[in-house]
Amino acid sequence: MKFLVTGGAGFIGGNFAHYMVNTYPEDQIVVLDLLTYAGNLETLEPIMEKPNFKFVKGDIRDRELIDHLFAEEKFDMVVNFAAETHVDRSVEDPEVFITTNILGTQVLMDACRKYGIQRYHQVSTDEVYGDLPLDRPDLFFTEETPIHTSSPYSAAKAGADLLVQAYHRTFKLPVTISRCSNNYGPYHFPEKLIPLMISRALADESLPVYGDGMNVRDWLHVYDHCTAIDLILRKGREGEVYNIGGHNEKTNLEVVKTILAALNKPESLIHFVKDRPGHDLRYAMDPTKIETELGWKPKYTFETGIPQTIDWYLTHRDWWEHILQGDYQNYYKTMYKDRP
Ligand code: NAD
Ligand code: DAU
Repeated sequence: MKFLVTGGAGFIGGNFAHYMVNTYPEDQIVVLDLLTYAGNLETLEPIMEKPNFKFVKGDIRDRELIDHLFAEEKFDMVVNFAAETHVDRSVEDPEVFITTNILGTQVLMDACRKYGIQRYHQVSTDEVYGDLPLDRPDLFFTEETPIHTSSPYSAAKAGADLLVQAYHRTFKLPVTISRCSNNYGPYHFPEKLIPLMISRALADESLPVYGDGMNVRDWLHVYDHCTAIDLILRKGREGEVYNIGGHNEKTNLEVVKTILAALNKPESLIHFVKDRPGHDLRYAMDPTKIETELGWKPKYTFETGIPQTIDWYLTHRDWWEHILQGDYQNYYKTMYKDRP
């Protein structure tokens, strides 16, 4: 089988490419990635020379390039991770979120229709369901929860999901969609909460917690997201949506305090800053469908996954220090200057 993995130089796509190349040496994995600020070839270094791996630089919005690639490679399966993914950046500049996340998805699916594939899988997010109230811990997102988005990022992801479902209904494209909760683990770009806090705490810099730090996220180790997608590709039913999550709800403050304790750093580093506009209160996934229908079970809890992740950042300083040396300094100054 030949897989196209778009966005495979990013956090989750990179972990998925590692997982697939190492788990299925008989399959061919082609990563297509534009190498935006979030894409990083150092993430792919450990598998770059493997005989069943190939990297192609390119944009999922580039119809001509995508057409040539599909004609040449004859993919069996397409897994679309490529996206603009940071909510704060979507608040600053929504446009690229619309073109990459929606139009890019359309270009990929048009090529799938033209050349024929066994499966197009869209990697979506729990954010398409909006948020849940903090005082109703009994509520969870199911696959039937209405789409109700808050940020330009989540609206663009929801737009793509609707288009994927339309291509299934109208053109009978064999699609699946997964919606996962917040991921953490190796190769996570340090603009996102967990790697940002680890890298700043290690440098004894202040840790910017939005609002009162009581917003809740449902954390899943990236390895468990990869095994879930693998199962959906092989056993999932066409046209279906699968929620992925492991019931690991934590307030942001709990997450930051856990990191500080693990690194033996003082809580005085915590600095409460101006809140994110439209900040979603709580995400919480009900993964019953993928558990009962496909037999998926996560390997990690937050309590076992976080020490492993912190250890990875301690032993792979080069990977994230290279990022901090680039445009990142400007990004941090610009993004956090209005958050005194
Ligand atoms: P990321 O930002 O780390 O990586 C995105 C990758 O896509 C980068 O390598 C980037 O270069 C590439 N890319 C961006 N625009 C492109 C384009 N036009 N053409 C080709 N490549 C392009 O993102 P991530 O956190 O790994 O997320 C991957 C996918 O998973 C996204 O679709 C995201 O919506 C979804 N998701 C993320 C999470 C999470 O917690 N991070 C949770 C659920 C779902
Ligand atoms: O739920 C899945 C989503 O998780 C993915 O679809 C997104 O691509 C991914 O970025 C992530 O979105 P979040 O907005 O939840 O992740 P982020 O790491 O940006 O923020 C997590 C929480 O931490 C959120 O409540 C905002 C807060 N936060 C974040 C940053 C960067 C802070 O308090 N301070 C910060 O500096």
